[in-house]
Amino acid sequence: MEMNSTSVEEIVKQVLESMGGTDNATSSATKSVASTGNSEIPKTAHVAMLTALEHYEVKEFPMPPVGDGDILVKVEGCGICGTDAHEFKRDPFGIIPVALGHEGTGEIVKMGKNVKVDSAGKPLKLGDKVVTCMIFKDNPDITMFDLNKQNVGDADVYGLLPDDDIHLNGWFSDYILIREGSTVFNVSDLDLKSRILIEPCAVLIHAVERAKTTGILRFNSRVVVQGCGPIGLICIAILRTMGIENIVAVDGEQQRLDFAKRMGAEKSVSFKDYKGIDALSDAVKEAFGGHPADFGFQCTGSPIAHANIYKFIRNGGGLCELGFFINGGDATINPHFDICAKELTMVGSWVYTLRDYATTFDFLKRAKGIGLPMDELITHEYPLDEINEAHRTNLAMKGLKIAIINE
Ligand SMILES: NC(=O)c1ccc[n+]([C@@H]2O[C@H](COP(=O)([O-])OP(=O)(O)OC[C@H]3O[C@@H](n4cnc5c(N)ncnc54)[C@H](O)[C@@H]3O)[C@@H](O)[C@H]2O)c1
Repeated sequence: MEMNSTSVEEIVKQVLESMGGTDNATSSATKSVASTGNSEIPKTAHVAMLTALEHYEVKEFPMPPVGDGDILVKVEGCGICGTDAHEFKRDPFGIIPVALGHEGTGEIVKMGKNVKVDSAGKPLKLGDKVVTCMIFKDNPDITMFDLNKQNVGDADVYGLLPDDDIHLNGWFSDYILIREGSTVFNVSDLDLKSRILIEPCAVLIHAVERAKTTGILRFNSRVVVQGCGPIGLICIAILRTMGIENIVAVDGEQQRLDFAKRMGAEKSVSFKDYKGIDALSDAVKEAFGGHPADFGFQCTGSPIAHANIYKFIRNGGGLCELGFFINGGDATINPHFDICAKELTMVGSWVYTLRDYATTFDFLKRAKGIGLPMDELITHEYPLDEINEAHRTNLAMKGLKIAIINE
């Protein structure tokens, strides 16, 4: 659509003046545009900033200059993660005001002359669809060339950066500036919903890779997945694509347990149906035909659930704990019965590596190929200016993955 930039600019100015400045949400119809190549790039971008607890404001900022190593991306959509929910409610990272959103994807509309390939060496051009992974400020060379970087300790991520004078730092926005030294992947061969699911799926690819290091997770293993939010459900889907069929899902929400079965769980157990851990572990055992699980994935942020899962696993079995992205408090276990006498092998799992991202792209295609309902994980879509409502829907656990989708 051709637009007259001068007249639109004037309209923007008037609207902003009537609103008392540039800090209020404006409709996309009021954006002024400048032309670059074949794309029309507005002179301002809209960013949903969390400015107080449980309160986003869609702010308008000038479009920043694109440096030689930078990429300007027009955002198509971004999922809401549990971490966004924690930040919305409690600001555990102490970063308000902040541009959140790290499960985003969009289209390259402008890039610096030094940008040629993505972090896997795949060529990049205008119009390509991309996602970001980590920002390794300490060593950008690793960023670009070492997909096997294991330790993500010193990494930042778009959507959890402190605000700065560029402001376009999160994917809950209509434009984001990916700066030199970031990791970026060309995922033009995946559809929008798959691209939005890349980040949470990478969490589970990593967890399953960690689980495999125990040597206990095998083709015929009995696997219990505790917690059937998006994280547990994706865990089940990954196990299923690996050919593991003997999966029991544990949660308290019937809808989620039903979805777990569609994702590939053989049986499901509602913890709400049983009084006490003995009855619950008997029910899990029964679901495996009278055997305890060989391996467990703990996918809730509940310390009680952490304590429970040991009881579902056999002597010599394994456990992957990935449910505590933030501090959820202490859990009480019995080290003698739960770990020592049981000879349990346990791994923790924390986000992902760049290599896991690359594996995730293949996983998403394979999961769809065998008919798993991955797209249905995204149950609600909201426009950017309804982001507060989107978060409230997420907190009410009304759906599974809630996404902000730009027009
Ligand atoms: N390790 C990582 O890098 C990483 C990354 C992202 C998220 N996470 C964590 O994973 C966890 C799950 O994420 P999500 O988005 O699926 O969250 P979610 O809140 O949507 O799902 C959690 C599920 O656990 C269930 N649950 C609660 N108590 C339970 C119990 N005692 N027994 C069985 N089920 C129980 C809930 O009913 C819910 O369905 C979160 O705590 C999140 O912080 C970890």
